[in-house]
Amino acid sequence: MFKELWKRRVELIEADLLKELRRTKSLDENLMRAMEYSLMAGGKRLRPILLMAAADSITGNGEKFITVADALEMIHTYSLIHDDLPAMDNDDYRRGKLTNHKVFGEATAILAGDALLTLAFEVALRQEDVPPEILLRVLREISIAAGSAGMVGGQAVDLHSEGVRIDFETLKLMHRGKTGALFKAAIRSGAILAQASEKNLDDLTRYAENFGLAFQITDDILDVTGDEKILGKPIGSDAKNLKSTYVSLTSLEEAKNFAQAAVDEALKSLEDFGSEADFLRELVRYIIARKK
Ligand code: IPE
Ligand code: IPE
Ligand code: MG
Ligand code: MG
Ligand code: MG
Repeated sequence: MFKELWKRRVELIEADLLKELRRTKSLDENLMRAMEYSLMAGGKRLRPILLMAAADSITGNGEKFITVADALEMIHTYSLIHDDLPAMDNDDYRRGKLTNHKVFGEATAILAGDALLTLAFEVALRQEDVPPEILLRVLREISIAAGSAGMVGGQAVDLHSEGVRIDFETLKLMHRGKTGALFKAAIRSGAILAQASEKNLDDLTRYAENFGLAFQITDDILDVTGDEKILGKPIGSDAKNLKSTYVSLTSLEEAKNFAQAAVDEALKSLEDFGSEADFLRELVRYIIARKK
C-alpha cells in the first residue's frame, strides 16, 4: 500500500511537472532543455509527496494540491543543480545522470536553476480551489523556507563549514536550513492547504522537523556507506570537500543513533493521529532504511 501509493503519486507528479514545463515559455530553447533535463531526471519526489501526505492526514484529499506540490519539486531541483556546481560541491552525477553543468555548461546550469526557482512561484499561483488568503499564507511559508532564513542560508553555512571544525549547534542549524526548511514547508503547506487545526499543524511541524533531521543524517551516512549506482550520485563527496556532517562530527554509529532518535520523535508527534497518518509513519521509517 505504502510503496504503491508512493509510486502512483510519483507518476502523477511527474506527469504534472511535465505539463507545467510544456506550458512555460522560454526565450531560449537550450535553457528550457536544461530545465527539463534536471526536473525530469527522476528523484524520489519527497517534497511533493510529503505535501500531499500531510493534507491526507487532515482531509484525505492530498492530490488536490498537486500544483503547489509541483512548485516544491521545482525549488528542490534548482537547489540540486546549484549544489552540484563547481563553486559548490563540484559533483558530476545527480539522479543517475551527469549533472546539469556537465551537460549544459556552468552558465546555463545557473540560469536553469534561476528559472526553475522563479517558475515555482508562477506555478504555485495556479493552484485551484484554494481560498486566496490560504494560498498566500502557503506561498509565504515556501518563500521564507527557500531563502536566506532557510535553504539558501543553510547552504551558506554548509559552505563556510568546509574544512573547519564546527560545533554541534552549528551543524544542527545547517541541517535545519539546507534540508529541513523545505521539508518543513512541504508538510506545513499540505496541512495549511487542508485547513488543519493549530494543534494538528503543530504536531505535523514537529514531525517535519524530525523528518528533516533523520533525512539529512541519513544523507550524510549514505555519502559514506552508499552504493553510487543505487544512490545516483557520487559517494565520498563530503569527504572530498571536507564537509562538516553528522558522520564527520560524530561517528557512523552515533549518526545512526541520532537518525533513529529523530524517527522516534517524529512518530511520537503523530500520536494524536489515526490511520490517516500511516503513510507519514511509514515514510519516516523508510527514510533511515533507504539506500537512495
Ligand atoms: C538530496 O535530496 C539533497 C538533499 C537535500 C540532501 P533528495 O535525496 O530528496 O534528492 P532526490 O530528489 O531524490 O534526487
Ligand atoms: C544539499 O545537501 C542540500 C541542498 C541541495 C539544498 P548535500 O550537498 O548534502 O546534498 P547531496 O548529497 O549533494 O544530494
Ligand atoms: Mg551541498
Ligand atoms: Mg551536494
Ligand atoms: Mg549529501
